[in-house]
Amino acid sequence: LILITGNANRPLAEEVSRHAGIPLADIDLFKFSNDESFVKINDNVRGADVFVIQPTCYPVNDNLIDLLIIIDALKRASAQRINCVIPYYAYARSDKKDQPRVPITAKLVADLITIAGAHRVITVDLHADQIQGFFNIPVDHLYAIPTFARYFKSIMPMDDIVVVSPDSGGANRARALAKRLNCTLAIGDKRRSGNEDRAELLNIIGEVNNKTVILFDDIIDTGGSLIKVANALVDKGVKKIYAACTHGVLSGSAVSDLEASPIEKLFITNTIPLSEEKKQCTKIVQLSIAEMLAIAI
Ligand code: R5P
Repeated sequence: LILITGNANRPLAEEVSRHAGIPLADIDLFKFSNDESFVKINDNVRGADVFVIQPTCYPVNDNLIDLLIIIDALKRASAQRINCVIPYYAYARSDKKDQPRVPITAKLVADLITIAGAHRVITVDLHADQIQGFFNIPVDHLYAIPTFARYFKSIMPMDDIVVVSPDSGGANRARALAKRLNCTLAIGDKRRSGNEDRAELLNIIGEVNNKTVILFDDIIDTGGSLIKVANALVDKGVKKIYAACTHGVLSGSAVSDLEASPIEKLFITNTIPLSEEKKQCTKIVQLSIAEMLAIAI
């Protein structure tokens, strides 16, 4: 069994390697001055079961193409099985043709990974479960909910907690967390018009007055969705607001907006690495999913 990582999230890959007790294989991966990527795998992979750890996080297109090139290099080096560990699957939100003349990029990415030569994908909290069906190879879909649930139970009493999904699309996910925490659920009524980054919040469905809230979502990107719901929750008389999201994309002004928001702490996992600047934000707490990935491998 061989573990390989690209440049997308080396700290996570190193942690997985420690948990699995398997060293990371030696690989050269760099860009020429013309912006083209080059990969050379220095260890022998002939006949091996190889796991490539490469979330397609920022810079998304570079990390995606590097993943494809690594798969191709492994295929041409006669690896027997190429397992792609993609803890954060970019373009997942482009999962349907909901307007005329738009692509389904999540499907295109699945095709590219498969055509490149992958035999299996391991991923975490896909934006939509049905993305598994975009692949004709096995997809192991892991969930960060047990990691969050264990952590929350260890840091706070559960008596006055309500889990809030910022929109109806995330209700099942939030319900699963609420069930593990043995607490109630509320849902935000969010609308997104066209291709805008920011969404509009219309209402909160459920009892939240005088409660401590855990806002739960798969992705925090610009932070717009969560912060809008957080502001609405303040108007509804909540006591305290925590937020938990598997994938901390945190693009644009997300971190400064979070700092200025009523959210006390944002819990994210390490599917996406935090920049040094983001690490300085005292509201952000990162939980590790490395052991879960090592067990899956
Ligand atoms: C959308 O349906 C997702 O589950 C997230 O709510 C959304 O992508 C978060 O994006 P942002 O932080 O930019 O509002």
